[in-house]
Amino acid sequence: MVSIQAIRTANNSIASQSPTAVFAGATSGIGLAAIEALLQSTTSSKIYIIGRSSAKFAPTLAKLQDLNPSAQLVFIEAQVSLLREVERVCAIIRGQEAVLDLLWLSQGGLSLAGHEVTPEGITANYAIMQYSRTLFMYKLMPLLNKSADARIISILAAGEEGAVNTTDIGLSDPKNDGFFSAMRQGVTMMSLVMRELSLENPSVSFIHTNPGMVSTAVHHKLAETMTGYLAPLSWLLKWGLIPVVYFFGWTAEEAGQVGLYELTNERHSASSGKNFFRLSENAENAGASSILSKYIEDGTQRRVWEHTMEIYEKVLAQ
Ligand SMILES: NC(=O)c1ccc[n+]([C@@H]2O[C@H](COP(=O)([O-])OP(=O)(O)OC[C@H]3O[C@@H](n4cnc5c(N)ncnc54)[C@H](OP(=O)(O)O)[C@@H]3O)[C@@H](O)[C@H]2O)c1
Repeated sequence: MVSIQAIRTANNSIASQSPTAVFAGATSGIGLAAIEALLQSTTSSKIYIIGRSSAKFAPTLAKLQDLNPSAQLVFIEAQVSLLREVERVCAIIRGQEAVLDLLWLSQGGLSLAGHEVTPEGITANYAIMQYSRTLFMYKLMPLLNKSADARIISILAAGEEGAVNTTDIGLSDPKNDGFFSAMRQGVTMMSLVMRELSLENPSVSFIHTNPGMVSTAVHHKLAETMTGYLAPLSWLLKWGLIPVVYFFGWTAEEAGQVGLYELTNERHSASSGKNFFRLSENAENAGASSILSKYIEDGTQRRVWEHTMEIYEKVLAQ
């Protein structure tokens, strides 16, 4: 197990790096902490931050700039649960950059609001957790392939993979969109699409990581979705689980350091001889998954990828 002290030491030794990076889902929590860690550890980095509101983020952006005046920070306002918005943002970045070194993806959260659908007709939790993240990878791949050490990190829950409903991969039927089953399926799909892309892009490192229990706003936001008959459970979450995570979980700052370590240390570079990693909260291997091995062998990995491409063709052609 890599200790947090060892992780901090490793992160403090990357001062010679000046990566160009894109961060989505980093306006708060683990992602924001990872940007802070990157700014504290490097000089002259260029960081694109994609978020829902430039006005709301302006004070935080000013604080980030103060952390490292040599860095170039570019905020792009976009609603990344909409695939056409992701496509627009990626076109802007492709128009401005020739090379991209780091892609950070942590947009999303937890919701018990029931089955919701985006204006583009996609199951809402999947739009943000799954299709949005994969589209960023796919559309920015030409730039990542030009980097000497490109890394993509998706902050979700490697190690928690489970069964995929192969007859309704997108969980468009509300009956299939249960909280736990949808979460397991989304996590599995993340591992499968990252592995599929890793085969086609051997010089890019694909990292699906599980940050563990981290004290961020994500659990408070989950509590807000627990209304009606779930309201008593929301009380339990607020006064039971959230304090436990606060006292016994990781801080966002620590999780951000772990994320930066996974993005920059040699062990997780494509030059290590491997370019697809499933990591646990301490940056170690999340362990073999028999269900993933089965899905790789029986063609489910390919079907999940083809399903994802079909969603893009349908939505982006409109
Ligand atoms: N914290 C944990 O214990 C934990 C554990 C395992 C996995 N994770 C996963 O890690 C990821 C990051 O979590 P976190 O703890 O850093 O949470 P967080 O502080 O709530 O950050 C979530 C980020 O995603 C963005 N986001 C959420 N819903 C969105 C939507 N519908 N449209 C656009 N942007 C949206 C937020 O933007 P705004 O600022 O605009 O809201 C924010 O930038 C999440 O996917 C979470 O499920 C977290």
